[in-house]
Amino acid sequence: MITAAKAAQRLDSRGNPTVQVDVETSKGICPGKSAVSGRSFRQGASTGKHEAVELRDSITGVYGVETAVSNLKDIDRCMREIDGTPNKSRLGANAILGVSMACARAGAAEAGIPLYEFIRKEAGISGTYVLPVPFMNVLNGGVHSGNMMAFQEFMIAPVGATSFAEAMRMGAEVYHRLKQVVAEKYGPAATGIGDEGGFAPPISMPEQAFDLLETAVAQCGYTNKVKYAIDPASSEFIGEKEYNLGLKQDKPNLVSPAELSDLYRRLIGQYPIVLLEDPFAEDDWDSWCEFNKTCQIELVGDDLLVTNVARVKEAHEKKACNAMLLKVNQIGTVTEAIEAANLAFSFGWSVFVSHRSGETTDDFIADLTIGLGTGHLKSGAPCRGERVAKYNRLMDIEAELRAAGKPCVYAGNEFRFPSSY
Ligand code: PGA
Ligand code: ZN
Repeated sequence: MITAAKAAQRLDSRGNPTVQVDVETSKGICPGKSAVSGRSFRQGASTGKHEAVELRDSITGVYGVETAVSNLKDIDRCMREIDGTPNKSRLGANAILGVSMACARAGAAEAGIPLYEFIRKEAGISGTYVLPVPFMNVLNGGVHSGNMMAFQEFMIAPVGATSFAEAMRMGAEVYHRLKQVVAEKYGPAATGIGDEGGFAPPISMPEQAFDLLETAVAQCGYTNKVKYAIDPASSEFIGEKEYNLGLKQDKPNLVSPAELSDLYRRLIGQYPIVLLEDPFAEDDWDSWCEFNKTCQIELVGDDLLVTNVARVKEAHEKKACNAMLLKVNQIGTVTEAIEAANLAFSFGWSVFVSHRSGETTDDFIADLTIGLGTGHLKSGAPCRGERVAKYNRLMDIEAELRAAGKPCVYAGNEFRFPSSY
């Protein structure tokens, strides 16, 4: 039984205010403790314009969240009321999600089971537990860093590992090697990091990023075992009709959607890229659909879908992509996130769980990934507390499952369709 709920304003990884919700139940996780907390909220920089709306106070410009917090004070009365807007703009998706996540944690504690188990039950998933492939964003560009690179994320995926813990070790090794490679090529001052913990050297073209990655991976002896993914987050660099690869440079470098498609195809042919996210802007449906006709790899909609059931259905009808990025705060409640994931699964799509660039040390999405058996997630580089919190939680879960002798498997090369296990 829920006995109390509290909300407070706290800071995220960028020093911006975020909402924290604590829900107390009469029964806690540990004997003798009664407080159960679920904490939110994470926030993006390259947000999709169709995302659920966070409430922020005008008094503190774009950053305050006091209104959302004060809404939570009415939690007992409002919790089960419908917000009444399609984008949660009345109560604020940040307030609603904080409560939703805290209640999921409280529910798990009441049932005396881990959060991932509670989510599995909610989602109706059973069978072998799937440990995800961590897609680690080790080179940052776009609006997540101050370099000249238009593309936002370059990720490494240790698909050749045999366990999640081994995948993290391999990822950390490549990350440290990459730091040396960057320092040798661009000098030690170029090893500063971006919003998601990846390096942000002074590069401007994707080939330069892949050359750095290829060198680091080869030097670690992981060629063929570590693959790549990119999230250009192209909604951030679309102009009227063309895309501007010179986004942060003095001179624009405009390319048509067809030219951009060719660039992606070239990169996929040249490097072991297994996943491409948001290659085109959120409303550029034509380019998505055209590209998807011949796309052999995972094509993930983030800003395109905003974890929204209506847009997922539209994308399915139009055959615009073959995978859904799952960001809980894009949709605003845990229940809706589970529904969206199940809908995507029903289309034969993959589901890729994601953090936000503005994060907290909350590790909810680690349990969500296991609970839904998505086979992969992204939580930034193996660096910065708010990024590794999720990876560390997943290593805890892996150890817990193995110690209990529960059937579990590392997704590896099957990260797209782990249900085949
Ligand atoms: P965001 O970026 O959290 O800044 O929106 C993450 C992403 O685009 O996947
Ligand atoms: Zn994205």
